[in-house]
Order: sequence, then C-alpha cells, then structure tokens
Amino acid sequence: MDLGLKDKVVLVTGASKGLGAAIAVAFGREGSKLVLVARSQTELEQVAVEAEKQGATEVLEIATDLTQADACRQVVSAASDRFGTIHVLVNNAGILGSFSPFEAITDDEWLQVFNLNLFSVVKLTRAVLPFMTQQQWGRIINLSSESGLQPDATMPHYGATKAALLNLTKSLSKGYGQQGILVNSVSPAFIKTPMVENMLGQIAQANGFTIPDAERYFLKENRPHIELKRAGTAAEVAAAVVFLASEAASFMTGTNLRVDGGSVASI
Ligand SMILES: NC(=O)c1ccc[n+]([C@@H]2O[C@H](COP(=O)([O-])OP(=O)(O)OC[C@H]3O[C@@H](n4cnc5c(N)ncnc54)[C@H](OP(=O)(O)O)[C@@H]3O)[C@@H](O)[C@H]2O)c1
Repeated sequence: MDLGLKDKVVLVTGASKGLGAAIAVAFGREGSKLVLVARSQTELEQVAVEAEKQGATEVLEIATDLTQADACRQVVSAASDRFGTIHVLVNNAGILGSFSPFEAITDDEWLQVFNLNLFSVVKLTRAVLPFMTQQQWGRIINLSSESGLQPDATMPHYGATKAALLNLTKSLSKGYGQQGILVNSVSPAFIKTPMVENMLGQIAQANGFTIPDAERYFLKENRPHIELKRAGTAAEVAAAVVFLASEAASFMTGTNLRVDGGSVASI
C-alpha cells in the first residue's frame, strides 16, 4: 500500500533512541526525507544510518536541547534551509521526571517536564505552521500517553503535560483543518524504551527487586488493565504514527490513537 510519504519532509523530535528512533526508521522505510532532533549527535547519527539503510532519501541530524531558548525556531529554520519546507511534524521528545508522589516533586522539576513535553511542542508547532499553511498540507502528530487519560498517583507532572497535549491537539485540529493540516495524537502505554527501562530501574532500586521483577510488579500494580499482559514495542507505536501521517488517514483529525494493549479502561 502506497502511504504517500515518499519524499515528504518529516521532522521527528527525540529521534536518538526509543520511540523516536523507531518512528524515524519507519518513515525511512516509506522513502521520506528526515530531520532528526535530540541532544546526542552520536546516537542521532546511528539512527540516521539505519533510516537510510531502510530507504530514507535524505537525513539531516540536529543535535540540540529543545528546552533552550530559541532552539525550536532554529531547528525549523535549519530544516527549511535544507529541504525548503516541512510536511510532517512528530512531537515525540519527552521526559518522565522522577517516579515520585506529588509532595516530593519540586517546582523546578515541574517546569523542566512542562518545558520539554508541552512548550517545545507549542514552539515547534508555531514555527512549522507557516510552511504547512502555505502548502495547504500538513500533519502534526503529538506523542501523548496513557497517563494523560488515566493518571495514577505517581508522576502527576508528566500526566498533566500529556493531558494538556491531548487538549492542544484537539484545539489545533479545529484551528487548522480547513487549511489541510491534520493534527492527531498517539497515546502509548508501557513501551520498552530507555525511558521505561530507567523507570523500572528506579522501581527495582526502591524495592530491592531485579529488573524482571520490577517489570512484573509494574504490570500487576500500575498497569493491571493492559489486557495483552506484556510491554509494547517501539515498532508498534511507530506504525500508528506513520499511519496518521499518511494519505490512508486523510479524514482523521483531532483523534487520539491509543497504542496501549487495552490499558485505558474507558471506551
Ligand atoms: N515508552 C513509553 O512507554 C511511553 C508511553 C507513553 C508515552 N510515551 C511518550 O513517547 C515519547 C518518547 O518516549 P520514549 O519512551 O521513547 O523516551 P526515551 O527513550 O527517553 O527517549 C526520549 C527522546 O527524547 C530526547 N530528548 C530528551 N530530552 C530532550 C531535550 N531536552 N531536547 C531534545 N531531545 C530530548 C532523547 O534524546 P537525547 O537524550 O539524545 O536528547 C530521546 O531521543 C515521550 O514523549 C514519552 O512521554 C512513552
């Protein structure tokens, strides 16, 4: 099936590892041109090599910290200098913050999590919209989370950013649909990536568990409604993101696609 993504310019944030790396490689398979953003140049280069091997026609890597003033605008400016425009923006970069109860989280940590998870999305979206509006075609896909829909007692700062992203996604879909710009979100749950491995490490350390014990504990205590009774893979999330960017999803906007093994309890 031709997804219509060949030679489309796709900007993926948080592309050096985890979901972002898998998303980059999946767009590579469709023959897209890629702009890969994260802080680690070396890891970005490794992902670029893999994406090119899979079929990406060109790859630009930009190593930057998206929470720094003006970084988002500079990323879009560098991408448009190289490729002339941007067709697809995947706002994937995000951090969890500490796996802590509410009273243990400082103001600084709240701001750090909001700066990346929400404000980089605001700034990047603002910077790409002129290109998408001019070409009357664009796709914006925001990585939210199960935690945005179904919060638990830990990581309230993280959950709040992800809930805000769902709201922002819907708002943007209403504002820009008439200009051919479709805005959707994807909400994964418990996907094995460096982020989740780090969280399992924190649980293991706090409870004196091994990592496999921590994974079993987390599934039982924190994610009892994952009906498939396993963690998901980055490739399973990447497939949903590529679908939403494609011509196959041309009548979908303001949607939240859950890739969560059934974890969110509501219909
Ligand atoms: N894994 C899950 O189960 C899960 C579930 C729900 C939602 N999500 C969401 O999916 C997205 C990706 O998660 P993941 O599990 O793949 O996380 P991850 O393994 O920690 O990867 C995060 C990515 O973001 C980049 N990044 C972090 N801070 C950055 C900054 N200040 N500036 C630029 N890039 C930065 C990291 O690269 P550098 O370190 O090189 O900068 C990395 O490429 C996140 O938004 C997350 O909230 C994940």
